[in-house]
Formats: sequence, C-alpha cells, structure tokens
Amino acid sequence: MHYDTLIIGAGAAGMMCAAHAARTGRRVLIIDHAKAPGEKIRISGGGRCNFTNLGAAPENFISANPHFCKSALARYTQWDFLDLVGRHGIAWHEKTLGQLFCDGSAREIIAMLLAEMDRAGAELRLLSAAERIEKATDGFRVALTGTGTKSGEITCRHLVIATGGKSIPKMGATGFAYQVAEQFGHAVTKTRPALVPLTFDPSALAWIKPLAGVAVDGRVRADGPVFEEALLFTHRGLSGPAILQASSYWREGEEITLTIGGSALFETLKAARQTNGRRDAATALAEVIPKRLADHLCSTHGLTERMGDLSDKRLEAFACALSDWRLSPMGSEGYRTAEVTLGGVATDGLDARTMESRHVPDLFFIGEGVDVTGWLGGYNFQWAWSSGWAAGTEIASRH
Ligand code: FDA
Repeated sequence: MHYDTLIIGAGAAGMMCAAHAARTGRRVLIIDHAKAPGEKIRISGGGRCNFTNLGAAPENFISANPHFCKSALARYTQWDFLDLVGRHGIAWHEKTLGQLFCDGSAREIIAMLLAEMDRAGAELRLLSAAERIEKATDGFRVALTGTGTKSGEITCRHLVIATGGKSIPKMGATGFAYQVAEQFGHAVTKTRPALVPLTFDPSALAWIKPLAGVAVDGRVRADGPVFEEALLFTHRGLSGPAILQASSYWREGEEITLTIGGSALFETLKAARQTNGRRDAATALAEVIPKRLADHLCSTHGLTERMGDLSDKRLEAFACALSDWRLSPMGSEGYRTAEVTLGGVATDGLDARTMESRHVPDLFFIGEGVDVTGWLGGYNFQWAWSSGWAAGTEIASRH
C-alpha cells in the first residue's frame, strides 16, 4: 500500500492537514487508532467547541522559542478559520474574551473537516494504530495494527505526525509524537500537564473543601501573566479558568497569588461601613463575593464584629490579605484531566513555515505534539488549524 502522504492522528491538526495536502490530487491517507475522528473536538468547550479566539496572537502561546509559532499563526489566522466555518454555514457566538463557540454542537466542526477532507479526496482509516516507523529509501515505512487495517504496512513519501500530546489518556492520547521525534534525532522539551486543576495538601484542603462548588471572579498569577477570570473551589483544590491558565506557568514548589474581591477592596469595605455600620463584615463582603466564601474568609480572619466596630487598620489588613493571597499547590490533577500538554517536539528541529523536520526531509510534526501550547480560550485549536494548514499546504505545493 503506497500513499504520497500518510498523516497519523485524525484530530484537529491532522484533519486540517489532510484537507489541504490532498488538494492537488495527491494520494493522502489519514489514520487514527480511535473509532471516530476528532474525539477531542467533540468533547471540547462543553460540547460546543471553543474553536478559535478573535485575539489569537503569538503572546498567547508558551514555547521554549516564543517566535516559532508566529509564521504559521500569521499565514493561517483565526479569520481564515472563521471564514471556513462561515462557508459551512456553522452558526457561532463570542462567549467572553474573544472566545468563539458553535451555537449548536462541536460535531459540526468535525463534520466540516470531514467534508473538506472528502472534497479534497483524502482517505480516512479508523481503528488503525501506527506502531513503528522506519525510513525507506524514498520515504517511510509504517507498521500498522488494529481492526481497521487491511494492510499491516504502508509506505509513503511524506509522513505527518499529528498524534497530539499526552492529556486524557482515556481518550487515546499517547506519547507517540515524542517517540517518533526522538527516533529521528529530534530533541523533546520536558512535557507536563497544563490547563489543569491544582491540588493541595491536607491542611490547605481542610479549609478549601468546605467551599467546594463556590466560584468567584479573581486574579491569579503563577510565574507568568496575571489571569483575570473565574476560579472555582473543589474537593481536590482549585480549578476554574483563572487557575487553569495559571497552571501552565506554575512549577512544583512555587506559590500562586490570588486577588479576591477586587483591587479596591479596602475602599469598598470602608464605603460599606459608612453606609451601614450595623451589618457584620461577612454580610458586607457578600456584596462583592459569594456569601459562603465571605462567611468563611471573615471567620478565618477573625472578622466577626459589625462593620462599625472595625478599624481602618483591620479592614485594610483584611483587604491586603485578600489581594495578595499566597497559596502553595501540592501538585496538579495531571494528564487525567489536563486540557493540554506543555512542551513537546523541540521547535529548533522544525521549519517554522512548514513544520517539516530539519533533520529528516518529508517528515512533519503538527499540533499539540509540538512544543507550542496555547492559553485556555480557543488558542490550542487555532494552533492545530494553523500548523496543520502549514504542513498540508507545503505538501500540496510539492512536485
Ligand atoms: P488531538 O489529540 O486532537 O488528536 C490526536 C489524534 O491522534 C487522536 O485522535 C488520537 O486518537 C490519535 N493517535 C494518537 N496516537 C496514535 C497512534 N499511535 N496511531 C494512530 N492514532 C493515534 N482547545 C481549544 O482550543 N478549545 C477548546 O474548547 C478546548 N477544549 C478542550 C477540552 C478538553 C476536555 C480537552 C482534553 C482539550 C481541549 N482543548 C481545547 C485542547 C485541544 O483539544 C487540543 O489542543 C487539540 O485537540 C490538539 O489537536 P491535535 O490534532 O494536535 O491532537
């Protein structure tokens, strides 16, 4: 069985690549060991797929080389993907912070990619796992297993590795891209779970657990930018968009800093005391944060009096504690729940314009397996579309 191009992994990046690589009549096969393509697309964004972000820019991505993603993101932008979505008549809306979601279902994005692949003539084969790859004289030889595989071996001229990262192994995630990269002499930067809830030791959990289910707007910072979004207390620790974002910048042993109740909390509390000094502190604080959290914070800080009995000094100390609240996470929930894998195939071994290996001609790495990780908010799919497009377009243009 010979194909011009074999793409391993029918996720977001692989399907985008297949739809473009097959455009000029090349024989393109895309395989996946799962029983359906685009499984992560299907479950993404609560079933509505946050498929891109209006503000997607290189600053929203983490990589050992922050410049690497620039070319692909500039050549296939969020506007290009939005144009494709529009041509397929998929209705969408902006939720918050430039995040675009389907009005209906994430399945529409999968159907769109399948239709694009079909139109270009790319073949899809499911329940087929790539096991082993060897370099042949004029391309690659790939050993396949799985019930969807008629032939145990495929040869191809171009080989695209689109097998994603390690997050959610239950959904078929493997470290295959890193294995192949190392086999062909590529460096792989240290991988770790990212966009993941943070966990705490039993003493911290003792006060976090009673708040499980409480969500509050706040600002969270690890060793990176400040994220101003909701955070959520859980039975295991902290989650919610602000925490997930900060988790990508957090390292074991470091603290995270939270700001709750707004940056002008002292002024807010003084104004509340002036308006009604007979209310207790927790009731006044509950005007700006959820009541359960207000009760909990006031009692742990010993603020049990009425507002009128609290001095400026005590109010200020309390407001300061909430605006510079330091916590030491014990760890994260790991790949089991992480939305993405940070790190991956080192970008210095890849051509930023085409995603082709600098060591092995005709070998390409795209999507999450590469050391480019987006923030929460549609950025990771945009990287999948842009890198998939870059490799697919390059392959289609070759003679
Ligand atoms: P992806 O993981 O999608 O695809 C890789 C494919 O390769 C899989 O289908 C896998 O089965 C296959 N495979 C692996 N090894 C193989 C082998 N040896 N042989 C054959 N096939 C193999 N991002 C975003 O921008 N907006 C969002 O709303 C969300 N939401 C979200 C929710 C959840 C729960 C998760 C886990 C993740 C997200 N993400 C997200 C992240 C996003 O899903 C992710 O970054 C992309 O799917 C990455 O696309 P890839 O194509 O690179 O890998």
